[in-house]
Order: sequence, then structure tokens, then C-alpha cells
Amino acid sequence: HGTSQINSDGRLEIGGCDTAELAAKFGTPLYVFDEALIRRRCKEFVEAFRATGMRYQVAYASKAFCVMAMCRIAEEEGMSLDVVSDGELYTALRAGFPPERIHFHGNNKTLEELEMAIDAKIGCVVVDNFTELYMLNETAKEKGVKVKILFRVTPGVEAHTHEFISTGQTDTKFGFDIGNGSAFRAIREAKELEHVEILGVHSHIGSQIFEVDGFRLAADRVAEFAQNVRLELDVTFSVINLGGGFGIRYTEEDSPLPLAKYVQAITDSIKSNFTKHDYPLPEIWIEPGRSIVGDAGTTLYTIGSSKDIPGVRKYVAVDGGMTDNPRPALYDAKYEAFLANRANDPNEETVSIAGKCCETGDMLIRDLELPKTAPGDILAVACTGAYNYSMASNYNRLRRPAVVFVHDGEADLVVRRETFEDVAGKDVIPERMQKQP
Ligand code: LLP
Repeated sequence: HGTSQINSDGRLEIGGCDTAELAAKFGTPLYVFDEALIRRRCKEFVEAFRATGMRYQVAYASKAFCVMAMCRIAEEEGMSLDVVSDGELYTALRAGFPPERIHFHGNNKTLEELEMAIDAKIGCVVVDNFTELYMLNETAKEKGVKVKILFRVTPGVEAHTHEFISTGQTDTKFGFDIGNGSAFRAIREAKELEHVEILGVHSHIGSQIFEVDGFRLAADRVAEFAQNVRLELDVTFSVINLGGGFGIRYTEEDSPLPLAKYVQAITDSIKSNFTKHDYPLPEIWIEPGRSIVGDAGTTLYTIGSSKDIPGVRKYVAVDGGMTDNPRPALYDAKYEAFLANRANDPNEETVSIAGKCCETGDMLIRDLELPKTAPGDILAVACTGAYNYSMASNYNRLRRPAVVFVHDGEADLVVRRETFEDVAGKDVIPERMQKQP
């Protein structure tokens, strides 16, 4: 997909760049992002909304992959930005992202985070709970401003890939429950607060979802809630945010819909539900993360040791692992991979790709068909753009990899590889433990 192909030297090429050359130049492990594919995914969402004629915002959920160059792309593609921490907010502001297009999420925003958000004049705070509602109102009061807010509500819909679970009550740390009346109470109380301005509600039903039914049901419940709130509290929502969660294809077992289909399903449900009640059509916001960057990312590794246990399994180890991609260990996530430097060679054996961390569970892929490999070969693991770099760690004190954006035959470094200084330079040895000269 994207701009990947096998070049005349039989090597995997992404964005016009030979991956073996990228590995040699930047070292491995290396995250390589196909910039044209990221931009294409942004455009798919934006154009699908434009076609509906509705007012909208597509906010890139930066948690999927938050670096300054990515914030620039999101801005250039006309997207808004969802952040969930002071660190993500800092990254966006430092990249010059327009603050009025930033939305701040999270179930435990600190006072410092709220102050930072208010001082930066961001577009809206997605209020998650009563503690936060009152803390935000107080903080805004001290600063003499009025802050725009959405309420995160839980509509009692939980979607997982192919099924969704519909429950009256939702057991989750996030948001105000519609079913038990806490969402209604939040709006009633917020209406009396002078330093918040209610824009509407937000709901997020899950991640890596392939079907539209969960979104439809969530839209139905949110619309019904909006109607109740209007009738009983005389508060009219101008924004409905239906979150993210649009699935992507990691392996052939995954069957996502074209992104425009999700947008259509969401806008159709909102339109029909709101017009039914003669409710002025709200703006629709969504927050895709994975579907913007997931398939644009590829991780390049250098193959090292192997261990063959006859009749059992052959392990082939790479120079990264759960430190740069914790998803297989955390979620049993599946990935596809290719031999990047000999991409035309026929597959000859079934191997399992191990990481280099000191932990048995540090396996990236089980039972992968590959040509016979040797130390020094380059392995490309596909679809690693979302929640890989952003969840990377320094376990075993490994240095986190570099990130490059490739486009039209050029590769730009967007995150440099960590150094030993990055790893150990923050450590402090207390005076009393220091070695005497
Ligand atoms: N909006 C909210 C409020 C969210 O909580 C999330 C994801 C998104 C948007 C973006 O969802 P996406 O379009 O990326 O599915 N670390 C996990 C995924 C956690 C998702 C958390 N929230 C993984 O690696 O699969």
C-alpha cells in the first residue's frame, strides 16, 4: 500500500527511498513513515466530511504518534488536534500548532495542565468528571476567562473490532454515564457555572473497529441525550464529537472499511437523529489516530542471532522488540513483515521474530514465512505507525530509535535516535554514594 514497492535491486522501497539504504544511513531499529500516505489518510477524512456539507472538525488523536513534524502535517492538512497530556500539548504548541484547534482530553488533568491549556487559549477542554469541571471553572475564574468545554459521556456502547457490546451502565474510568444520569447532572451543574461554555458532548467507543453499527448506536444515544438536555435544561449542543477508533489492516485477517464509509455512517446517523427532533444540526467532530498514521509506518530492524529448535520453532532475533513495539506483548497484536533487502526472494522457512529484551514475552511475530535469513539482513515490519513510537520505552536501557519521514525519494529525520546520554544522563548519584577520589 501507499508508496511502497520493490525496486529493481529487489529491495523494499518506501516513498522512493531504498529501505536498505535508510537502514545503513540512519541505523536500526528505524521507524520509517510514508508521508504521502499520512497525508492521503488525512485527506480521505476531510474530503468525506466536505462531501456531506456538514460543519466538521477532524482532530488527529496525537496519542497515536505525537512528534512535532506530525503536528505540522496535521495542521497543513486542515486537521484539529486531540491531546491528552501536558507533554502532547507542549509538543503541539512548540510545533506552532494553532491553539484554537487543540482539544484537551484525559481523565485526570492536573491543575497545571488546565492552567497550561487556558494560558495557551486552546479550543476546548473535554471535561471528564465532576472534580475536573469544578477545578476548571475555578481556574478559569481566577484567570478571568470563559473556557469552551465538551463533556465526555459514556453512551453504553463498547466496540471491539467486529462486535460491539451495548450496556446500560458502563464500567469505565472515563466520562459521565448517560445511563445513570450523571451526564445529565453534569450539564445541569455546568449550566450554573460562569466560567465554562458548554459546546456539546464527546463519546469514544473503542479502537480498531471495523463495523459502523457501534458508531450508529452511539450516535443514536448521544442524539437522544441531546434532545433530553434541550427539552429539560434548555441547553442546545453545537458540537457532537464521536471520537476515533476506525480500524486498519495489520494483517489479512483485518477487514477495515474505506475511511469515507465511517464518516458517512456517522454523519447520516447524526443528521437523521437530529432532524427528527428539529434540532439545529451540530458540528460533527471525530478523532482518528490509528487510521491516520498506522499503515504509514514501517519499522526496519537488523537481523542478528537465531536459534533453531528442531521440530519446535526457529527464533530469529532483531535489534529492537517490545521497547519499540510493545503491542504484541501487551495486546497480542499481529503484524506482517518482509525481508527488506531481498524482497523478491521466495519464502523458505517459518520463523518467529524475537526482540532483544530480557523477557520471554518479547516476541514481535510468531510463525512468519521468510526467505532464509542471515545476520545483517533487514526486516521490515509493516503497519507500525500508530502506538509504537508513542508507547516505546527504554526497558533494558535501550535507546529509542530514530524516526524518518520519506517522500519523493528523500528522507527527513524527524526524531533523532537516543544517545547513551539520553538514557543515563538524567540519573543522579546522591552525594553519599559518590566514589571518593
Ligand atoms: N479519542 C479518544 C478519546 C481516545 O481515547 C482514542 C484512543 C482516540 C480518540 C483515537 O483512537 P484510534 O482512532 O487511534 O483508534 N494503545 C492502544 C490504543 C489505545 C487507544 C486509546 N484511545 C493500541 O496500541 O492499540
